[in-house]
Order: sequence, then C-alpha cells, then structure tokens
Amino acid sequence: MANKALCLLLASVLLAYYVYSPLPENVEERWKLMLINVGFRTLQHVAALAETLGLAHYMDVIAVITVMEYAAPASDENVTVTDTEFDGVPVRLYVPKEHPDTPKRAVVYIHGGGWCVGSAAMKPYDHVSRWTSERLNAVVVSIEYRLAPKHHFPAQFEDVYTVTKYFLQTKTLEQYNVDSSRVCIAGDSAGGNLAAAVAQQLLDDPDVKVKLKIQILIYPALQTIDLNLPSYQDNANMPVLPKTLMLRFWSEYFTTDTSLNEAMETNQHVPAELSYLFKFVNWSHWLPETFKKGHTYTSPTVGSSTVGQKYPGFLDPRAAPLLVDDNKLRGLPLTYVVTCQHDVLRDDGIMYVSRLREVGVPVIHAHVDDAVHGAMMFSTSPMILTVGQRMVNDYIEWLNKNL
Ligand SMILES: *[C@@H]1O[C@H](CO)[C@@H](O)[C@H](O)[C@H]1NC(C)=O
Ligand SMILES: *[C@@H]1O[C@H](CO)[C@@H](O)[C@H](O)[C@H]1NC(C)=O
Repeated sequence: MANKALCLLLASVLLAYYVYSPLPENVEERWKLMLINVGFRTLQHVAALAETLGLAHYMDVIAVITVMEYAAPASDENVTVTDTEFDGVPVRLYVPKEHPDTPKRAVVYIHGGGWCVGSAAMKPYDHVSRWTSERLNAVVVSIEYRLAPKHHFPAQFEDVYTVTKYFLQTKTLEQYNVDSSRVCIAGDSAGGNLAAAVAQQLLDDPDVKVKLKIQILIYPALQTIDLNLPSYQDNANMPVLPKTLMLRFWSEYFTTDTSLNEAMETNQHVPAELSYLFKFVNWSHWLPETFKKGHTYTSPTVGSSTVGQKYPGFLDPRAAPLLVDDNKLRGLPLTYVVTCQHDVLRDDGIMYVSRLREVGVPVIHAHVDDAVHGAMMFSTSPMILTVGQRMVNDYIEWLNKNL
C-alpha cells in the first residue's frame, strides 16, 4: 500500500516536472499553454529518438501534427471551399457565396511550419481562411506548397511564387471577379518568410502588371545570418518554437546534411567573404532600445567551415528577405508586421519594420507583448488561447478596414 502511494506520488512529481515549463510573468492561461507545449515537446523527443534509432526522418515525425489536424474542404452556407490547382500547384480556394456580382477583395495566404510541416488544410489555417473569406467577402487562395526534407529551397518559394503570379493574371482575377487593386499576400512564420520574398520578387517581374495592395507578415523568419539575436537568446526555450527547432527548420530548408545545422548552432555558418551582409542584421543599429535591454552587440563570427559555400541558398534573398539593399525595399506595399515578445523570431520582424520605415514604406507594427511564437494557430478547439483568438480578430479587422 505504502509502496503504491509512493509510486503514485513519484509519478505525479515526474509528470508535473515534465509538464511544467517556466513562462514569462505576463503570459496568460499558463497551464493551458504548458499543456499545449507538452504535446509539442513530446513530439520533438519522439522525433529525435526515431531519428537516432534510424527509424524515420526527424521532420517526418513532426509532420504528424499536419495529419492529426487535417480538415476536409467543406463548404458551408457562406463560402464554397475546394481543393484545386493553380498552374500545377495545389491550393485550397475559398469563394464567398454572397454578392456574386460585386468585385471582391482577395488574400493569397501562405501557411507556416518551418518549410517542413503544415498545410493549408490544417484546422487552424482552414478556420482563418474561411473566416477571412466570410468576414471580408473575399476570395482566399491558401497555398499547399512542397515541403522539406523531400523538397529543399527553392521549391517552396517557387510554388508560392507560381501560384501568386498565376492568380495576379488579369484573366484569373476576372474569372473569380476580384478587384485587381485590392489583393493582399499574407503568411505566418515560414509563410511570412515566403510572403515577404514573393512581394520583393514581384517588384522586378516584368510579367506581372498587378500590384499587391498589402503584405502581411505574421511573426516571420527573415534572415539566416545572425541566429543569436537578443530574441534568440532570450527565448531559446520558449514554448512551441525553441531555438534548436528553429535552427533545424532553417538548415533543413536548404539541406538534410547536418553540418549546416551544426555550424548554425555556433553562429559560424557565414563564410568570411559574405561578412558584408552583417550590416543588414546589425541589431545594434536596427533594434529599438527596449529590445536590446541586457545585451551587448557582437557580430556573428565568420565561419572557417565550408558549409556556407556548399549551401549558398541560405544567403539568397528569396530565402532571407532581410538581406537586400534598400532599393529592393522601396516600392513594397503597405505592410502589416506582427511580432511576439516571447519568440526567437521577434527581432527578425522588428528589424524588417525598421528597414522598411527607413526607406519610406508605410508599416503597421503590431507587437504582442504577452504571446509566444505561433499564438495565432491556437484559435480553434481543442488548442484555444485567448491571445490567439485576439490576434486573429485583430488581423481580420485590420484587413477588413485596409484591403
Ligand atoms: C454564415 O454567415 C452568417 C451571417 O454572417 C452567420 O450568422 C452564420 O453563422 C454563417 N454560417 C457559418 C456556417 O459560418
Ligand atoms: C553595427 O551598428 C553599430 C551602431 O550603429 C555600429 O557602431 C557598428 O559598427 C555596426 N557593426 C557592423 C558590423 O555593421
């Protein structure tokens, strides 16, 4: 009897120890977030184990969430939802049923998931797209791009670029009765990275006549040069996206060769001849004082390794949109950037805000002080957070007023 009680006590203590993760003071619904995080952490542990044992690729295990959260394309009384293809790339399309004859606004949406996981068909993304379509009476094109490790850069970029370009053709816009002056591109996390890259590349594309009205970048990843920014240091172990996982996503985007990941972990992956790129990510210059608190600037160390030369993709602006000259930023549309305080990617977004403002691009910066990375994904049951619902509402309301 006493033994049983002791075992039970021990098990409870171990469980509590496993579930508990320290969270910043201002985060609400702490236990709920810890429980959500237990799911993500467990998945990462299982993935690491499966990989060590040679049973599966790390990302193939993480991708289980995509399957678990699959939602079939279901139309309702307000919106017609179909899985189709644009120029050979799968998309999930949301077309409102009301006012079929009035010209509509449109949103091209790119889901997150570190270029390795995620899907337009995941419940939270399906929900946000459906809701956008309904609330704005807008056509939403949610892109199902190819993922790593099966496909590396630039496959992801090429897919989202192909779809956007196809959609922006006059004949496609007419087919869906879209007002060509009211089209927006949006994405979160890796999707924010792709949205920013697409918006930049469209500026120089002679085939595209229609201009985007807005770009929306929700906690985007924007640079591969300095992976030890204050936000990386302060939030290395925050729920949902720890630094180790973010570096794994980055390196996996380019290659399955783990030497790039190892070089990134010591922030020594940039070859010496490319150190001129450091100026684009000099957080001493680009971050407002409040975000530098407690940190002293050191630039990344140039790598002695050759990985930088082997996988130059990680310095390509289509992968790292922060690494461009000012003249590539001028001409970008009205930009809405969401950043979260407790997120390794926070400073990527903030530095882009500073750079865009400096060249005169109008920017709305929505900084969320009490959120972790990915918070907007937690807006549907069973994983619901009040902060996630608030962020989705703010995003859709802003879009409704400005698009
Ligand atoms: C359709 O739109 C109406 C009016 O906005 C709303 O009351 C209703 O709940 C919507 N239906 C669905 C299935 O979301
Ligand atoms: C970074 O910015 C600071 C402050 O503007 C400047 O003093 C320093 O030289 C810069 N370093 C690099 C590597 O650009």
